[in-house]
Amino acid sequence: MATRGQFSSKIGFLLAAAGSAVGLGNIWGFPTQAASNGGAAFLLVYLILAFVLAYPALMAELTIGRYARANVVSALSGLHPSATLKRAGFIVGLCALTVAVLILSFYAIVAGWMLAEFLSPAAQLLQWDSGASWLNAQSFSRNALMCGAMSALTIMIIARGVEQGIEAWSTRLMPALFLILLGMIAYVFTQQGALAGLKAYLIPDLSQLGNPSLILSAMGQAFFSLSLGVGTMLIYGSYLRDTDNLPRMGAAVTLLDTGFAFTAGLLILPAIYVAQTKGVTVFNDAGVLIAGPDLIFQVLPALFATMGAAGNWLALAFFALMSIAALTSAISLLEVPVSVAVERWGLSRPLAALFSGGIIFAISLLVIWQFDALFNGVITLTTVYGQPLLGVALCLFAGWVMHRHQLLKELSNGHPEIESTWFWKLWPFYVKFICPALILITFVQSLR
Ligand code: TRP
Repeated sequence: MATRGQFSSKIGFLLAAAGSAVGLGNIWGFPTQAASNGGAAFLLVYLILAFVLAYPALMAELTIGRYARANVVSALSGLHPSATLKRAGFIVGLCALTVAVLILSFYAIVAGWMLAEFLSPAAQLLQWDSGASWLNAQSFSRNALMCGAMSALTIMIIARGVEQGIEAWSTRLMPALFLILLGMIAYVFTQQGALAGLKAYLIPDLSQLGNPSLILSAMGQAFFSLSLGVGTMLIYGSYLRDTDNLPRMGAAVTLLDTGFAFTAGLLILPAIYVAQTKGVTVFNDAGVLIAGPDLIFQVLPALFATMGAAGNWLALAFFALMSIAALTSAISLLEVPVSVAVERWGLSRPLAALFSGGIIFAISLLVIWQFDALFNGVITLTTVYGQPLLGVALCLFAGWVMHRHQLLKELSNGHPEIESTWFWKLWPFYVKFICPALILITFVQSLR
């Protein structure tokens, strides 16, 4: 077998894993959820859940991945010699693969919208008005073409492999992402109304803490944001070197992801209040904050439109931010089926990328075509049901199917003193019992 790909450095892995985690979920999902759920109250619950629930689950994926050094299907079916457990691992692996494919099929559509909104002000700046308005309006052809363009970029990066593709592009794009975000925050804070937004974000509405749907939304958000449950973190873990300290890497990824979400909130909430100061409608007729797609595609563009010439550049910067964030997340989702196709069917990487990416694009086209019937359904199926249930399964595989000594041996690679750490005293028990139980309780609550 050809040698497997590997991240060439700690920072390469960190930027790639943070690239996967930081995405539309951070810049769009998190701030709007915070805005509609009591600001800092949501932030607080989110931070707690990210470290108490999502971090241990992330560690389960990273540990299984590096131990097995294989794609999600082979990894889970190879953890234990018993035939039943092999079969169970195979089935869970296939489910994870399917959910990854479906998540990418809708994620690529949304990424395509972002690309369109990025190209539209660019066309405007080039004085190509008909192009700008075509890019600006929902249509089958626009959505299909832009989704196709995003899928093509994703396929090209993944075709180049772990080091030249995933790592090289994450290392280029992630710093750019952070700089654009900081630049935009700096600009928004020069505008009237920004401070009111900051207050709404950082001063908690504690009455919201008793709201059970807050915990649920925060858990869903944390799982989506950390890319859990579908084997993306497992496959990235499988490309980590033996000399790297797993608990520390996982903690760094969790910190980068929550830090980025928090920082994105410093842009979006003030921007909403600046928009309101400028007379843009930010609350709907029922007095509820406009938080869904309309926030990104109406409120913010309306805000940019009030800013004259600077507005075009701001729109350009903002949707560049969204497109880049979406791209580094999309590549991690495509790596899940591609690694299966390469390692189990022996396809070459470029062929596997083209083949898996092509199938996913076909599904995206179907969803774009039957949008009303399929789009929300696919999102609910994958993020409300698929991710939490698979998250439980992955914790169970790490906690029950892998032996304690296997876990210890894997974790002590890169961290020889692991046995005397708090992490080792708590985590094995935690993934075995607490994590699956907490996820399940929250999940069952959501069904009522
Ligand atoms: N975490 C990314 C975001 O916040 C999206 C993402 C990438 C993802 N890989 C994933 C979500 C795997 C769920 C599962 O936008």
